[in-house]
Amino acid sequence: MRLSRYFLPVLKETPAEAQIASHRLMLRSGMIKQSSAGIYSWLPLGFRVLRRVEAIVHEEQIRAGHIPMLMPTLQSADLWRESGRYDAYGPEMLRVRDRHDRDMLYGPTNEEMITDIFRSHVNSYKDLPLTLYHIQWKFRDEIRPRFGVMRGREFYMKDGYNFDIDRDGALHAYNRHMVSYLRTYERMGLQAIPMRADSGPIGGEDTHEFLVLADTGESEVFYDAAITELRLGDRQVNFDDRSECAAIVEEWTAPYARTDETHDAEAFARIPEARRRKSRGIEVGQIFYFGTKYSEPMGATVTNDKGEKVPVHMGSHGIGVSRLVGALIEANHDENGIIWPEGVTPFHCGIVNLRQGDGETDAACEKLYKTLVQKGLEPLYDDRTERAGAKFATMDLIGLPWRLTVGPRGLAAGKVELTCRRTGQSEDLTPADAVAKVAEIYAPHHAAAHWEPMANRSFHTWL
Ligand SMILES: Nc1ncnc2c1ncn2[C@@H]1O[C@H](COP(=O)(O)OP(=O)(O)OP(=O)(O)O)[C@@H](O)[C@H]1O
Ligand SMILES: [Mg+2]
Repeated sequence: MRLSRYFLPVLKETPAEAQIASHRLMLRSGMIKQSSAGIYSWLPLGFRVLRRVEAIVHEEQIRAGHIPMLMPTLQSADLWRESGRYDAYGPEMLRVRDRHDRDMLYGPTNEEMITDIFRSHVNSYKDLPLTLYHIQWKFRDEIRPRFGVMRGREFYMKDGYNFDIDRDGALHAYNRHMVSYLRTYERMGLQAIPMRADSGPIGGEDTHEFLVLADTGESEVFYDAAITELRLGDRQVNFDDRSECAAIVEEWTAPYARTDETHDAEAFARIPEARRRKSRGIEVGQIFYFGTKYSEPMGATVTNDKGEKVPVHMGSHGIGVSRLVGALIEANHDENGIIWPEGVTPFHCGIVNLRQGDGETDAACEKLYKTLVQKGLEPLYDDRTERAGAKFATMDLIGLPWRLTVGPRGLAAGKVELTCRRTGQSEDLTPADAVAKVAEIYAPHHAAAHWEPMANRSFHTWL
């Protein structure tokens, strides 16, 4: 992408309404524009990050064996009356009436709708286990939308639902989700700690929230520092193996980690003092096991191997896709702007032309650009006739992790400059070496996205 042809409406002034860094930086870097309270347009740069985050979520759900689909945003109130939640949900639910006076609602979540789909088509234990998910816009009429996309009213969420014949099957689904979530966040360069939580209006007995540590987080959290040392890394997980998944869950749930809702001061006091941590966190996901809470009232039953009709055991599992974009910035920024982790960056690197209009410099930039594209990378080339300082400031603000700077002086020595946004360190390299280095940096990220069943992705990108 050439910046002269892009739409990147960066703001010079810091918007007064933004209280936290991520909100300020998303507005300043032209990622989003508010259209009304808690409702945003995703401008091109923000949209690219949202799509990256979404792609990682899809890839890791599919890797875990979960099946993507898409349900509508508008739902019929009748379904919610069946589960009893139409009245229970309260003013957070946006209720709408259509021209025939039918009660509708903009879905805040989809347990009822997925249960209805399931009961219409599945009758036998032989069709289980089954986990379906979608990534779709949700609406919750939050009393205090704030912090930009972190607490929006309209927000983008992955929600998945498992259907299993018994509790053990559903607990395996729970564990599978925890493991897939750990890898999802790790690929984004984010540490999200699973913490025992409270189930709220979804209901149920087992639930964990995933929290990104940040001073601006809305939850108070208590944890053993040992949990922050854990990494999934490039472990190959067999998601069908119950004990393998359970062992990973055990590894992550053994150290104490809880939100204030379930905090147990006595258990916390037993952790060695040097490892006791109290902090704030941003909830970027939550998993639930709730047994037959929806299947029983809504009649989602299957016949088991003895020919008896039994309600299925379910769970639901959410990731805040749009909130993650804000959380990523809270965890990755400095006074000059955003610092994208490689896994989610909107462009792999920037190219800054220090002397736009100079034939040789322009030609070197063009060649660099083409070579990067040939390697499957997406550079953002600042080809505007701006001062170098302004170009650097824009690159720092929008946070591309790597910047290639091209100017007559370097070119005279056969070199371009490669700068790391995070450390600020630069090195002079030949253009060929610079391209090779950037390609090498992104190789693990490409590999993670192109694992075996996805190697032949063509038309159906994720499906
Ligand atoms: N208003 C919102 N804006 C953006 N993301 C949200 C919002 N509400 C929930 N999410 C995201 O969707 C995920 C799954 O939804 P869930 O029902 O668990 O939310 P929640 O527990 O009600 O969230 P919160 O406690 O922050 O209100 C959450 O973990 C969060 O990341
Ligand atoms: Mg939650």
